[in-house]
This record gives sequence, C-alpha cells and structure tokens, in this order.
Amino acid sequence: MDHGRLKDRLAKAGQSHLLRFWDQLSPEEQAEFALELEGMNFTEINAFFKNAMETSGQTKQEKVDSRMEPLPREVLGSVTRDRDSIKEWEEEGLRCISENRVAVLLLAGGQGTRLGVSYPKGMYDVGLPSHKTLFQLQAERILRLEQLARRQHANPCCIPWYIMTSGRTMESTQEFFLKHKYFGLKQENVIFFQQGMLPAMDFSGKIILENKSTLAMAPDGNGGLYRALGKHKIVEDMERRGIAYVHVYCVDNILVKVADPAFIGFCLRKGADCGAKVVEKTNPTETVGVVCKVGGCYQVVEYSEITLATAEMRSADGRLMFNAANLANHFFSLPFLKDVINTYEPQLLHHVAQKKIPYVDTRGQLIKPDKPNGIKMEKFVFDIFQFAKTFVVYEVLREDEFAPLKNADSQDGKDNPTTARHALMSLHHRWVLNAGAHFIDENGTRLPAIPSLKDGTDLPIKCEISPLVSYGGEGLEKLVHGREFQPSLIIDERGIHEHVRNGL
Ligand code: UTP
Repeated sequence: MDHGRLKDRLAKAGQSHLLRFWDQLSPEEQAEFALELEGMNFTEINAFFKNAMETSGQTKQEKVDSRMEPLPREVLGSVTRDRDSIKEWEEEGLRCISENRVAVLLLAGGQGTRLGVSYPKGMYDVGLPSHKTLFQLQAERILRLEQLARRQHANPCCIPWYIMTSGRTMESTQEFFLKHKYFGLKQENVIFFQQGMLPAMDFSGKIILENKSTLAMAPDGNGGLYRALGKHKIVEDMERRGIAYVHVYCVDNILVKVADPAFIGFCLRKGADCGAKVVEKTNPTETVGVVCKVGGCYQVVEYSEITLATAEMRSADGRLMFNAANLANHFFSLPFLKDVINTYEPQLLHHVAQKKIPYVDTRGQLIKPDKPNGIKMEKFVFDIFQFAKTFVVYEVLREDEFAPLKNADSQDGKDNPTTARHALMSLHHRWVLNAGAHFIDENGTRLPAIPSLKDGTDLPIKCEISPLVSYGGEGLEKLVHGREFQPSLIIDERGIHEHVRNGL
C-alpha cells in the first residue's frame, strides 16, 4: 500500500494523528510502521472502542443488584459438603485422563504489570527452598498426574499442555521451556500459541502512540483465548489427539491443581459442558468477582458492579448469599469450546480498564502520566458461562487451592511472592501432618500444627514436597508415617531432606 492510501485509510478511521511523526522516521522505520498499520482493522478497533465505552458507562450507572440470584443448589458441588463423592469423582477424572481425553490450557498472556518484572510471570521464583518457578510446578503436577493415571489404569497416557502467550511473552516463554528441557515433558505435547493484541486508546478513541513509530499495544485479555484458539486451529489439534475435555487455568495461582481429576469427574458426572471452580468469599468487601445468575443467565459479577448492601446479604446458613468467588479456573467440553469459538465469541464485549499509558506528546516527548489517560480493552475468559447448556460450579478450599501471585512484595501486602510461598508451604505442612508425621524443634518438642504468631506474622514451617512425589497429598504415608522431622523438610524424587538452610 502506498503512503497516500495509508493516509486516506487512517483519515477515514479518525486516526490520522498516528502519522504525525512520519517525516521524522528513517525509511526502515517508515516501512516497518506502515506494515504494522496496514495489518490493522481500524473499523473493527473503532467498533470495539464504541461498544466497550457504552457498556462500561452503563454498568457504572446501574448496578445489577436487583437482577442477581444466588446459585441453585443443583449446580453446586463442594469438596467439604460432598466429601462422600470426592473419591468417585477423582476416579472418574483419572480414568478420563488415562484415556487421553483431557488437555490443560494455561492462560499466560498477561503482562504482569502489578508484579513488575520484565519477564513472563510463569518464570517467577517465589523463593521456595527448591526455587522452582510457577511453570516448573505446573509441569511437574502434569507429570505426576500422568503417572497416577497410568498406574491406576495401566494405560500409557499424556495430558497435552496448551500454553497461550502474547506478543509480549511468547519468545521468552518458549526459550525458557527449551532451556529447561520442557521440565521432563515431551516437547510435542507442549503447544504454544499466541493471543491477539489491541491498541490502547485515549478517552476519545484515538490510538495512543508509545513512541513516534510504535503503537501502545496490549494483549486483548484472557478472553482473547477464544479468538486465538480459532485463529491457530488449536481445537483441530485437540481433536486429532482425541481430547474431549479441557481444563483452563491462570498462570499465577501457585496452588493450582492442573487437570484436577475431582473437578473433571464432578463436571462429567453432572453432564456439564462448562464448569467453574470457586472458593468461598467470606468478606463482603473482598475485591473478587462472584459467580451467580443475572436475569436467569450465569455470569461473573465484579465487586464494583454491586452495592455493599447486596455484597453483605447472607443466606439462612450465615454464609454470604453471593459467595462463589471466581478463580478463572474452568472445565470446558470440546463441543462447547467449538460453539464458543465459531458462534459466540463475536458477542463477547470488551471490558474497559482505565490505565496510565506512556505516550509521546505532539512535540515527540515521552510522557509518563500520573493519572489514567486512556483505556485498554480486554475480553474475559469467564464471559461465556451464559452460553453453556449445563453449567456447574465446584467449590474448593482457598487454603488448598488458591494463592495467586499478583503483586510485588511489600509490607502487609496481599497476593505477593511471600503469601504465595507461605500458602504452598502451609499446604505441604498439612499434607505431612495428615500422613501421620510430626514436626519437632531442636529440643525435640512437638511444634503446634498451627504456626505461632511471631512478630505479628504467621511464619509457616518450611516444608516443600515436590509435585513429582505427590500431586495432592497422596503417597506420603509410606514415606513419613510415624516420623518426626525438624524443619526444614524437603521431599523430592531423590528422597527426604531435613534442615535445608536456604531461605524463606
Ligand atoms: P490478570 O488479569 O491478573 O493480569 O491475569 P496479569 O497480566 O497477570 O497482571 P496485571 O493485571 O498486568 O498486573 C489473570 C490471568 O489471565 C492471563 C494472565 O497471564 C493470568 O494467568 N491473561 C491476562 C492472559 O492470558 N491474557 C491477557 O491478555 C490478560
């Protein structure tokens, strides 16, 4: 396309300002920039902006309170209330895994801005004694689960791992996996694909220039998954492998039970095409979205969309009425995923996030704004519940399954490397106690099962069990029953190690 045509196209789209610095660019920069602009569908981008702004305006004005209904009992399963069924569900899930019908899909295209590191979040080491990264923990859980399924059903099996990255995380993620030899998984069973990007726009719909020849681009949200699956023909790959069910989860939950057999088994028994894993919201002001019904359809309602009075409503049992905190951890049947990709995806609206977006001013100076100057548009992975024929919800314990890494370490911070590390070690401590072992101090005195308060901080016992040894606490009895350990305790595929010095 020649420059004149590009100019016309931009003028028609109301985006002429993008060529403001054209004459100052080198021929190479011009060629590269022109190529990027030519590849963009401005009609679509402008429509996304218009729709997203209209919907976000509406949700601010009218809260959804009056139309919200709690989840009906028949769609709910719970690890605590349905304890008698867990074993059965687990067996069902494991059988399905052993038949090579389950895949896992990791959402790892986020920018991790709050954590503030320049590399993908999955490469983060929260400081466990083993220094394993989030990617490694997840890979080893997959390996262990394959082993458990194989043992139980004498069938060699594999859980393919689909990893969604973005333009910002693809290269480094792939290099990291290669460097670590795919953590013991077969390379052909780890499939990377890239989600789309959208430009950040100012409040009047003008695309923001990050520098004179670069647009401020950002991934299009974890709901960009569905478009990316279609574009990269991922479902076709799943079909070739005989996959029937997919477990989708976020990279940042250090406790995530990848391909959780009990969750899969529960969804199968219920005949569900779409399932959401949740934890109980106990504090009305906790900033999480809740799964509920709105006007008869299942959806996630964000904390900002309801009034405090509704958030505080309680059921007869004393629990919050809207207490199903969404984890973005889902079960999808393949036919459902196909319907979403082929039919429903275009109906999903972008959500608007107001952000401080660095930009070049009219003189070409880079400005880092101190208050939001524009928006990023994102689709959400969980906006598709409304299309499910049979939707179910599975409640698990927060302390066993949910400790996201969102923020950098700071005093009395939340969801940071310290809280994630402590959550994992506390869980492993409980596994060891449940397997019939005890912890003692240097004088041989038994340590309390609940860690004491030291300087106002709960310090967990340093205890880490490799996922290669145990996926969910199983198999530990034969190793530790009746024994006493002095922390630190590490159990890995090489054996049991006590008194490990490296730090908390
Ligand atoms: P968050 O919404 O917490 O975003 O993502 P983030 O990128 O990790 O962190 P911030 O907000 O920039 O600090 C929840 C999950 O969705 C994935 C993330 O990788 C994470 O697993 N995600 C998010 C995507 O895959 N793509 C996106 O465009 C956004």
